[in-house]
Amino acid sequence: MNNDIVILAIESSCDDTSAAVIKNGILLSNVTAGQEAHQLYGGVVPELASRAHQQHILPVVDTALKKAGITQEDISAIAVTLGPGLMGSLLVGVSFAKGLAIALGVPLIEVNHLQGHILAHFLKTEGEELETPPYPYLCLMVSGGNSQIVRVDAYNKMGIIGQTIDDAAGEAMDKCSKVMGFGYPGGPIIDKLARQGNPTAFQFAKPNIPNYDYSFSGLKTSFLYFLRDQLKDNPNFIEENKEDLAASLEKTIVDILMKKLEKAAKDTGIKHVALAGGVSANTALRTAFQAKGESGQWKIYIPKFGYTTDNAAMIAIVGYFKFLDKDFCPIDKPAYSRTTL
Ligand code: KG4
Repeated sequence: MNNDIVILAIESSCDDTSAAVIKNGILLSNVTAGQEAHQLYGGVVPELASRAHQQHILPVVDTALKKAGITQEDISAIAVTLGPGLMGSLLVGVSFAKGLAIALGVPLIEVNHLQGHILAHFLKTEGEELETPPYPYLCLMVSGGNSQIVRVDAYNKMGIIGQTIDDAAGEAMDKCSKVMGFGYPGGPIIDKLARQGNPTAFQFAKPNIPNYDYSFSGLKTSFLYFLRDQLKDNPNFIEENKEDLAASLEKTIVDILMKKLEKAAKDTGIKHVALAGGVSANTALRTAFQAKGESGQWKIYIPKFGYTTDNAAMIAIVGYFKFLDKDFCPIDKPAYSRTTL
């Protein structure tokens, strides 16, 4: 009898269609199709996203199975992102996963997208030596839609101890990039420009809010007004200073993120600290994390680039943990656009 546990995972919560296969906890494939259609609009257009998911889902799943050397008969369960995300996007992946689970007679496993990001640190490929965080650990979850400090006590026991009260860190990067006339998504563009700039050239407003919560809307406004004033005197201000603007903005965001995370680590006494989400690809944030690790203050966990943005591998690892606990999902459970952890 074959006792292998093979999970096919599907992720379609926003604008990436992704499928992954994990066998006995080892990642065999992770295939993602992005969507260029949104670049023209400076943000994800939900209607375009769901249409593109429809086109991508079948070839992406097929490629993931082939790359893993797996046939449909080998699949033990199907894990799918049930939320949070864009409803039209989620429905494509969820309907596909449900249909396939019914057709194959295998259980469905529900995965919370945010839980996936936070547990991406447990992803291992064949022969890979990987140090995984012990529980409890803190995770700074920073993406286009979230900026949260999460305390993780077990794979299925985690709680938000601080979060943004307005914009997310990635959203702030994207909006400031848009204001400067750069492309979308703004985070990677700001990151690239910032490498050539002076991070202390300009100062922008930093929030002063209690506890471990974040706020980025004041920074966004301060950035906007600063540009408006400078452009009055010099219409070429942005072009002439784009590297310094990017570096200063990036530094401000990283300082804000790290200050609250440091406070949380100090107050909880938790020294194992991880990064997750799209913004964790940011060079300055990674450097600030690495400095904490090198100083011996924290043991740090930084995801591989491929696991920072949306991907099905992270859904697969949660699916695997849930399979071991026989934590299956009723087939009629609906997708949800909003939730917490
Ligand atoms: O987690 P993610 O792929 O999508 C969700 O929000 O769910 O995160 C996307 C966010 C965008 O705001 C993007 O600008 C930001 O991550 N991002 C970055 C970098 N790469 C992606 N921000 C800063 N530096 C980067 N290198």
